[in-house]
Amino acid sequence: MVRVLFVCLGNICRSPTAEGVFRDLVRREGLSERIVTDSCGTGGWHIGNPPDSRACAEAERRGIDLSDLRARQIKESDFEAFDYVLGMNDRNIANLEAMCSASYKDRIKLFLSYAPDVGRHDVPDPYYGGPDGFRDVFDMIDKASRGLLADIRTRHPDALG
Ligand code: 4NP
Repeated sequence: MVRVLFVCLGNICRSPTAEGVFRDLVRREGLSERIVTDSCGTGGWHIGNPPDSRACAEAERRGIDLSDLRARQIKESDFEAFDYVLGMNDRNIANLEAMCSASYKDRIKLFLSYAPDVGRHDVPDPYYGGPDGFRDVFDMIDKASRGLLADIRTRHPDALG
C-alpha cells in the first residue's frame, strides 16, 4: 500500500482538489486497493467543512466529485502514516517541516515537483481570486497528479502489484 497526503493552508481549495483528481486517476488505473489518498490543511479554520463551492464547481465541470471530502488539520502522526506528504507551496512545506521529526522529513515534497513542464514552483492560493484561478489550479493539479503516479510506479513497483 502507498499512502499519499495532499496539504494546503485551509484544506478547502487546493488540497481537496488534488485529492479528488488523484483519487480519480488512481481509480481509473485500477489502483484504488493499492493507493490511499487523503488531504488536510496546516491551518484549522475550516475543520469539518466541505471544499469551497468554486473548487467543487470546477472539479464537477471536469467530471470529478469532491462532495464527500471534509477539511481536517495536519497532525503529527500523519508523517508516519503517509509515504508522500505533498505541500502546495513553500509556506506549506515550511509549516510541515517545522512539525515533522527528522526521520520523516524526506516524505515532504512540493506537489508541483512532479510536473516540471508546468514551469511553476507552487500551486497558487485561489481563495481570494476569481473562477479563473480555480481553473488554472485544476490544470496544474491534473498534470502533477500524472507525474506523481509515474513516480509511485517507479519507486513502489512492488506495492502496486
Ligand atoms: P486552500 O485555500 O489553502 O487552497 O484551501 C485557502 C482557503 C482558506 C483560506 C486560505 C486559503 N483562509 O484564509 O481561510
